[in-house]
Amino acid sequence: MILPAYLAVLVTTATVAMGKTPEGFKPATNADLIVDYSGIPALNGAVVSRSPTGNEPRIGTASRLNGSSYAVMMIDIDIPTNSPPQTNTLIHWLQTGLTQATTATTLNTTSGPVRVFLMENRANTTAITPYFGPNPPARIPLSHRYTQILVDTTSITTQAIEIIRTAANTTRIGFNAEIVLSQANLAGRVVAGNFYNVTNPGPVQSVATNTSTTITSGVATNTAAFEPGTSTGRPATAIIATGSTFKEDKPFKNLSSTDETKKALHECAHSIKSANSNGGGGRRPQWSQVKLAGELGQEYSSVGK
Ligand SMILES: *[C@@H]1O[C@H](CO)[C@@H](O)[C@H](O)[C@H]1NC(C)=O
Ligand SMILES: *[C@@H]1O[C@H](CO)[C@@H](O)[C@H](O)[C@H]1NC(C)=O
Ligand SMILES: *[C@@H]1O[C@H](CO)[C@@H](O)[C@H](O)[C@H]1NC(C)=O
Ligand SMILES: *[C@@H]1O[C@H](CO)[C@@H](O)[C@H](O)[C@H]1NC(C)=O
Ligand SMILES: *[C@@H]1O[C@H](CO)[C@@H](O)[C@H](O)[C@H]1NC(C)=O
Ligand SMILES: *[C@@H]1O[C@H](CO)[C@@H](O)[C@H](O)[C@H]1NC(C)=O
Ligand SMILES: *[C@@H]1O[C@H](CO)[C@@H](O)[C@H](O)[C@H]1NC(C)=O
Repeated sequence: MILPAYLAVLVTTATVAMGKTPEGFKPATNADLIVDYSGIPALNGAVVSRSPTGNEPRIGTASRLNGSSYAVMMIDIDIPTNSPPQTNTLIHWLQTGLTQATTATTLNTTSGPVRVFLMENRANTTAITPYFGPNPPARIPLSHRYTQILVDTTSITTQAIEIIRTAANTTRIGFNAEIVLSQANLAGRVVAGNFYNVTNPGPVQSVATNTSTTITSGVATNTAAFEPGTSTGRPATAIIATGSTFKEDKPFKNLSSTDETKKALHECAHSIKSANSNGGGGRRPQWSQVKLAGELGQEYSSVGK
């Protein structure tokens, strides 16, 4: 195929400033993962506005990889703590079962066209952590680095997938990719990486102690925001709804009115509590806590994401 000259120049330029993991992040890689939110490239530490990042990005590499299965992890490595400037990590997306397209796709990005072999979830593998977008709170640090790594999981055992799943479910905050990959026997299998920043406009606010029970959000319909522990695992907290900060985030579905939402929430809380008291055996979910919006507001705002 013959490209118009200007297009060839753009393609060349666009392939220069790509991914790589941030300094200090492990496992590190210099191979570029291309990350694109509906035409907005989110590459190489650039500050990206939050608005396009709410839905899963398209990711891929400029050259075709030779593996038959891949996983992507996206980790916020700048979660505020109660002892700033200390930070923590939070897993935002963990999808296994990806394969790479055999032909390249031209993404028409705001920095010109980029040719990418996209990673695809053709088998519709359920995400271990379904994607949820950046939403840094007005705390230190205001700017967060969202780091993506692509892992070659060719010939991965189901046991290794379980190790990753358990780690992501039980240690969402404090998720340590290096340790998890090593436990899953995948050390050295990171084939591409990237990061970008999303910045809260500030000013920095002290941790909220707002316990208003105004429900502006909805019911968590997504299991990732709603995961029971098991009799063998650590008990989990049921996250039912939040106040304003989660309003536009994926795990929460808006219902038609506040009344309807409140009703649904209370029914939901009730059914979870009954499930607990029903006894049950073996692997029945054990909810250690059932909380409503206002109670959670404080905890979440103290975590940030
Ligand atoms: C796949 O590519 C990597 C990196 O170029 C190389 O190290 C590896 O040997 C290749 N594997 C196969 C099965 O060709
Ligand atoms: C990119 O733009 C070209 C030319 O306008 C078009 O043919 C192509 O379908 C576009 N690709 C995508 C992925 O939107
Ligand atoms: C995956 O989901 C898409 C869209 O729902 C569907 O068209 C496709 O057949 C599914 N593929 C498999 C392997 O189940
Ligand atoms: C991205 O965030 C990190 C962590 O807060 C910060 O050190 C860095 O300066 C930010 N980068 C940009 C370009 O704002
Ligand atoms: C982890 O989450 C998935 C769904 O996202 C669920 O099927 C699984 O049971 C959870 N595992 C643990 C150990 O909590
Ligand atoms: C607490 O949150 C509610 C609902 O978001 C808001 O209307 C109210 O102003 C907040 N109060 C304080 C003291 O921040
Ligand atoms: C959610 O529902 C409320 C109340 O009906 C409405 O005002 C708001 O615009 C809705 N938000 C979205 C994102 O649909």
